[in-house]
Amino acid sequence: MPSANRDWDARTYHRVSTPHRGWAKALIDRLELRGDETVCDAGCGSGAVTAMLADALPAGRIYAVDVAPSMVAHARETLAGRPVTVLAQELTELTLPEPVDAIFSSATFHWIADHDTLFRRLALALRPGGRLVAQCGGEGNIDAFRAIADDVAFTEAPFAQYFQDWTRPWHYAGADATAVRLTDAGFRDVHTWLAPAPTAIDDPKPFLTSVCLVRHLDALPPALREVFVDRVLERCTHPLVLDYVRLNIVATKSTEAVD
Ligand SMILES: C[S@@+](CC[C@H](N)C(=O)[O-])C[C@H]1O[C@@H](n2cnc3c(N)ncnc32)[C@H](O)[C@@H]1O
Repeated sequence: MPSANRDWDARTYHRVSTPHRGWAKALIDRLELRGDETVCDAGCGSGAVTAMLADALPAGRIYAVDVAPSMVAHARETLAGRPVTVLAQELTELTLPEPVDAIFSSATFHWIADHDTLFRRLALALRPGGRLVAQCGGEGNIDAFRAIADDVAFTEAPFAQYFQDWTRPWHYAGADATAVRLTDAGFRDVHTWLAPAPTAIDDPKPFLTSVCLVRHLDALPPALREVFVDRVLERCTHPLVLDYVRLNIVATKSTEAVD
């Protein structure tokens, strides 16, 4: 069963999510902002990336949306005094106070199972002609790392007994399937592509604990969580290089209505 817990350790995530900031920087450049637009950051996390987006919008406004309570609280603290409204919302039910010029999203869509509903909801939130520029984990993302984590979780004692009903929380979609979904949801000029992004991780233990293994740890009793992370790390090569594959999305909301 999917884990019911959707929260994160926002403080640790904020400290260790250096790779995410690097990905987001390239993505913000891809938005080609004038600086006065209204933009939604879909899945804002702890607010670090939203702050970078705010720097590119000196005369603009941001709606930063996230479903995790600790991320929302951390983002509000990080972004205080900025022209950013942080909203606690589920992205598949996104409702913004006004249509936005662009939706930006980094490292979030692969945490959402239903991309058809997600993309329709994002299209509804954009003004006609508005742009979606996003990146998330794509087909093949951290396959090698996940094979190790799966092996420890599903085959090793004392962990395996806790993973009997656990299902993987990620949806690593392919580029072609995503392009079809975006077109069906009412986007045009759709470009989607996968890009391998192997990434060396400086501080592997807190990184795995608060990012890659965050939903594994929900399945375990507190006393076994650190032991599990240590065991997965033991099975990885050192230094740890994660075999990330990013799914890139650039699309424009069609001016024609979609049912
Ligand atoms: C890996 S973090 C990325 C945060 C930020 N964009 C960054 O790059 O640092 C993924 C975020 O997506 C949020 N998220 C996942 N599924 C969501 C959903 N269905 N609705 C809203 N937020 C969601 C999580 O709570 C988490 O904060």
